[in-house]
Amino acid sequence: MKVTVVGAGAVGASCAEYIAMKNFSSEVVLVDIKEGFAEGKAMDLMQTASLNGFDTKITGTTGDYSKTAGSKVAVITSGIPRKPGMTREELIGINAGIVKDVTENLVKHSPDVIIIVVSNPMDTMAYLVHKTSGLPKERIIGMGGALDSARFKYRLAEALDCPISDVDGMVIAAHSDTGMLPLLSKATRNGVSVSEFLDEEKQNTLAEATKVGGATLTKLLGTSAWYAPGAAVSMLVQSIVCDQKKMVPCSVMLDGEYGESDICLGVPCIIGKNGVEKIVNISLTDAEKEKFATAAKAVRDVNGDLKF
Ligand code: LAC
Repeated sequence: MKVTVVGAGAVGASCAEYIAMKNFSSEVVLVDIKEGFAEGKAMDLMQTASLNGFDTKITGTTGDYSKTAGSKVAVITSGIPRKPGMTREELIGINAGIVKDVTENLVKHSPDVIIIVVSNPMDTMAYLVHKTSGLPKERIIGMGGALDSARFKYRLAEALDCPISDVDGMVIAAHSDTGMLPLLSKATRNGVSVSEFLDEEKQNTLAEATKVGGATLTKLLGTSAWYAPGAAVSMLVQSIVCDQKKMVPCSVMLDGEYGESDICLGVPCIIGKNGVEKIVNISLTDAEKEKFATAAKAVRDVNGDLKF
């Protein structure tokens, strides 16, 4: 099965690398606008194939979307990343034009494609893809919750001083520093609520560290992160290509679910060969419901800046 990754920067190349390393897809096509860049990244990655033991064929193209024809899944990572001190929302002006253009090219050559949106501000870019692509809503998935949940698990394991495989948890709502909602009420260590091990202050501290996870890395790296974003995307792509039906929080178009409509926000979804196969309705505490509604309002404000 063919997977396209648009944007051969750090996030896009990491996506391609992790997809190839997991060896579940026959072909990955990397696309970039910078002359020769995607071709170079693809060649470099292909020269790891014999070393890392994968058979996935990775190719690159400078903007020739005919090479992406027949893709089952396409990942959009294009656009500019955050610089230290910037919010994801500040990227909207430049990234909206790029994402719209990329979407049109992808759909033209792969009308049955499932699109995974990574470009920021992600919830708004996913909304833009809905408004401009004409694709059914189950075939547009915003990647935020998968990454934010991985960062949440990292912080949970750190606070509990335990292996990551002991912990479980999800982050829903917006992929923004203020709009993320780490679900502490549902987080567990081997099925036992984390509230049995951590007092409220420790829980709040780790939730706050989760929410600014991307900003913390941007400050350290001078640009936004790529390993965990790439790994999170590859997990979603695998759930589609291998029809795993994993439950993952994704930014999807809501139509009354969680009290919201005409907005993309992170909620738990079943991800399989048809894309978003189901939005899972879970119970939230009153405080969580309030935070979800506040996040929705903020995303709606940013969506208001879009011009179609
Ligand atoms: C991050 C980017 C991918 O959170 O939004 O690292």
